[in-house]
Amino acid sequence: QGRLILGIESSCDETSAALVRQDGTVLANVVASQLVHASYGGVVPELASREHLRAIVPVTREAMHLAGEAVLAEKQVLRRVAPQDDNLQGQDGDLQGLKYSDLAAVAVTEGPGLAGALLVGITFAKSVAFAAGVPLIAVNHLEGHIHAVLMESAGAFEGKAPLLAVVVSGGHTHLYLASKDVQGLWRYRNVGRTVDDAAGEAFDKVAKLLGLPYPGGPWIDALARHGVADRELFAVAQIKQKATGHVAPKLVKDAAAREQEPDDATRFDLSFSGLKTAVRRYVELHGMQPAIAARFEALKAAGLDKTKPRGEALAAALGHFDAATLNLIASFQDAAVRNIVRAAFGAAEHFGAHGMLISGGVAANSALRAAMSARAEKQRIAIAFPSIALSTDNAAMIAAAAWPKFVAGRFAEDTLEPTPQLRL
Ligand code: KG4
Ligand code: ZN
Repeated sequence: QGRLILGIESSCDETSAALVRQDGTVLANVVASQLVHASYGGVVPELASREHLRAIVPVTREAMHLAGEAVLAEKQVLRRVAPQDDNLQGQDGDLQGLKYSDLAAVAVTEGPGLAGALLVGITFAKSVAFAAGVPLIAVNHLEGHIHAVLMESAGAFEGKAPLLAVVVSGGHTHLYLASKDVQGLWRYRNVGRTVDDAAGEAFDKVAKLLGLPYPGGPWIDALARHGVADRELFAVAQIKQKATGHVAPKLVKDAAAREQEPDDATRFDLSFSGLKTAVRRYVELHGMQPAIAARFEALKAAGLDKTKPRGEALAAALGHFDAATLNLIASFQDAAVRNIVRAAFGAAEHFGAHGMLISGGVAANSALRAAMSARAEKQRIAIAFPSIALSTDNAAMIAAAAWPKFVAGRFAEDTLEPTPQLRL
């Protein structure tokens, strides 16, 4: 039996394959980001499916190859210290990649995500599992994001239950109380979510409003450093909180939803659409639209709409911004961050969480990391973020989330289908 789980992720606009050991060691994690969507200002589902279809085999081939090299390199080290070690038998001279026999299972994202995009990953994962004769494991994408943090934490959260898991991505903004059951399977209870836009969506929409390329989150992060945030500019939306105590029982049709979200829960919901509207009003009030439209064209003409906001590209882009716009960007980011910090720490305190895990694309935001870390230190609560590489969508987190399921024998049916609205 092999010792690696092959993870496959294709829920949105990244095609990814990864090989991960039970202890969380990542032997390879290959991510192909789809650039075709940049000029549309958002992900186009039909294009996403086609791009996944084109990328899935090369990406997996590359991951197998890299993992094969990683195993070989380690084997040489192992040979020196433990010549009798037979873990890696049969790998001699294998630089072409891994073999099916190295796989313990294939894990794939079941949802939530785009139906057509998920379908590509699921179909491919089924085929590989079938050919390799190993089990298929279905993973919830949101659980994957949470495991992106756990897999790197080296047991730092062991025995710290319950944990508060904060998932802030382009499609989702959720707060979960997480703990392990007797089988070692993770259980999650949703204690807060956005009532309108997801956090990353807010970053992306505001970025679009200001003539920045898609996805806008990284651009806002980079540009905000060059502006001065005005705390008074945008009020942070009040978290809607149901009082504890007697709440009239309401009928929940969906049994799964009822189980995950008890009616009597105090909730720590968030809202981002008011903030987005406030930015739009500010732009209109100050007559900034012509400058924004001109900047959008200028960035595009300079080819900056398809680059990451780093180094020379960022320096070149900065030339197109005035102080007022940079301050506006900084003020928006500051308000969005305060919004998340308030909900997360409100929930952590209320539920007595002993640790906090922040994940999803927005967890890459430098201001969010700084604010959350500072608050956690003040409140003496253990906190962790994934490395930047594991913050955005990737297959390593899917494989990592699959390991406890593998151990508990929770395998997917041969009839597994995408579940675009899958809940956690
Ligand atoms: O988790 P992810 O890769 O995909 C989803 O599952 O949605 O998250 C992508 C989101 C995008 O909205 C992107 O703008 C945002 O994460 N994002 C950021 C940063 N990096 C990515 N938002 C704010 N600051 C960042 N540094
Ligand atoms: Zn994601």
